[in-house]
Amino acid sequence: MAASMTGKTVLITGGTGGIGKAAGIGLASMGARLGITGRDRDRAERAAKDIETESGNPAVDVFVADLSSQAEVRRMAGEVLSAYPRLDVLVNNVGGFWSHRHTTADGLEHTFALNHLAPFLLTTLLLERLIDSAPARVVTVSSGAQSMGKIDFDDLMGEQDYSGQQAYNQSKLANVMFTYELARRLDGTGVTATALHPGMTNTSFSSADPARAMAPVVFLARPFMKSPKKGAETVVYLASSSEVEGVNGQYYANRKTKKSNISSYDSEVTARLWQVSADLIGAADAR
Ligand SMILES: NC(=O)c1ccc[n+]([C@@H]2O[C@H](COP(=O)([O-])OP(=O)(O)OC[C@H]3O[C@@H](n4cnc5c(N)ncnc54)[C@H](OP(=O)(O)O)[C@@H]3O)[C@@H](O)[C@H]2O)c1
Repeated sequence: MAASMTGKTVLITGGTGGIGKAAGIGLASMGARLGITGRDRDRAERAAKDIETESGNPAVDVFVADLSSQAEVRRMAGEVLSAYPRLDVLVNNVGGFWSHRHTTADGLEHTFALNHLAPFLLTTLLLERLIDSAPARVVTVSSGAQSMGKIDFDDLMGEQDYSGQQAYNQSKLANVMFTYELARRLDGTGVTATALHPGMTNTSFSSADPARAMAPVVFLARPFMKSPKKGAETVVYLASSSEVEGVNGQYYANRKTKKSNISSYDSEVTARLWQVSADLIGAADAR
């Protein structure tokens, strides 16, 4: 039987399309009050309308921010805290791929900033609200690419040597390490942290890359890709199912736990990444 999310508030980053929007439809259909985020207000409002129509649930709110900018993440988090007196689930879903190195408004490499530092900062800013709403969940969308990742502490921002694939793999491994370290820090609070691979899913993923470097791979793989609804299944499961109530610090694919990159189990490395990330968001006190 489908879980009921009535009375629960869920925030999904990147709910204007792809996996985030499909997860939004799933969770709104279960009765959740839903917040989605996107960079463009019109696009986000249109997505919210679609979600309302498909789910039959009118309780869908829009938050607008370019999450590659830390100032924007901070502003949006403030708006979320004003709008939502409780927050039961945070889904960190936004992510992208760029074949050429470029930097954000903060001067940070874009892949690392958007895929890892943005969820790190947003979660930090919303954490007390999640703890006050416990039992609550933080679900972070990683990727199977994490298994090929390596955290290059000597060149995190790819200044000496950049490859889009390595930057993406590193950022998705960082999502898993962030989840495991967060889980340790949240132990006993009633808030849990899990990460997942959605599976190869037919979305607009990588289309923001001007070089369209992934386009040939996507073209060939498209017939074998999941629909966004299928790709969102593990997100919806981790956000809502009673089967995973209390499950903390695990990585999932196809609604089952899965072993992640061996380095993700090294708590010295995850603690180091946490510290470096806290320094990069200027929060020495990140929980
Ligand atoms: N698709 C796959 O096969 C696949 C496989 C493994 C993992 N994943 C992971 O799944 C997650 C979702 O991917 P998807 O395939 O659904 O991608 P998508 O179709 O490209 O959707 C990305 C979402 O993120 C938002 N977004 C992008 N850049 C943003 C920014 N700078 N600030 C704020 N929002 C931004 C987009 O909103 P706007 O454009 O409206 O701002 C959109 O809602 C990513 O973390 C990805 O790494 C995907």
